[in-house]
Amino acid sequence: MNYVFWFLGLGIFGFCIGKFIKHKSLYPFMPFRYDFRKRRDTFKLVLELLNRTNAKVIVETGTSREGLKGAKSNGAATIVFGKWAQKNQAIVHSVDISKQSIKHAHDEIQKQGLENFVQLHLSDSISFLKNFESQVDFLYLDSYDYSDDLEEQKKSQLHHLGELKAIEHRLHNNSIVLIDDCDLPNGGKGKLVVEYLLQKNWKILVNAYQILLVNNNFSPYGHL
Ligand SMILES: C[S@@+](CC[C@H](N)C(=O)[O-])C[C@H]1O[C@@H](n2cnc3c(N)ncnc32)[C@H](O)[C@@H]1O
Repeated sequence: MNYVFWFLGLGIFGFCIGKFIKHKSLYPFMPFRYDFRKRRDTFKLVLELLNRTNAKVIVETGTSREGLKGAKSNGAATIVFGKWAQKNQAIVHSVDISKQSIKHAHDEIQKQGLENFVQLHLSDSISFLKNFESQVDFLYLDSYDYSDDLEEQKKSQLHHLGELKAIEHRLHNNSIVLIDDCDLPNGGKGKLVVEYLLQKNWKILVNAYQILLVNNNFSPYGHL
């Protein structure tokens, strides 16, 4: 009987260790309990680059529709970069076409006390970006959901390319572009954006679940 308890204890211990190893937090920047999983490393690098480039204007397409609860599934980027903006006197503009997504993001922003650092915009992202009037230091593309359906995949890729083209003239040498959901069948959300930018004097800094691009003239200490 003792052996049974031993094996059970060992099993539970192994399970906890496995969970701990898989858990990818942004601690101490975000509370340890939030697991950013496949986005943790790129978020961490972007936070470092935002510091180095002294970024002031962050634009996100597709808002945190699940608030911080969505850290593992959606990324919760609005809140992560909102917190960075709060600490660095910057501003996040997050645009979304869905009233419900905006409402959920709004609730979380209030809960986190970020209302002076995150502005939510209810709009189609391409129309919003076309009318955006200031330079963009960090652009995060994460709107039109990617799916298993081939037609939807193409629409998502074209939409993200449309977003990039709509705001391209507001990017500068030290801008950072991050695209979510890329390591997926047929190239994910970023396929066409990446092809386009690579022809335009941009290079890939990280090619993972998210793709991070910077201009060939990027100099991380340029704004300091
Ligand atoms: C994956 S979620 C965004 C997740 C968020 N970036 C985060 O890190 O938590 C995608 C969002 O894009 C929005 N969306 C879809 N099509 C859009 C469009 N044409 N313009 C703006 N937002 C759109 C959806 O309503 C949804 O809320």
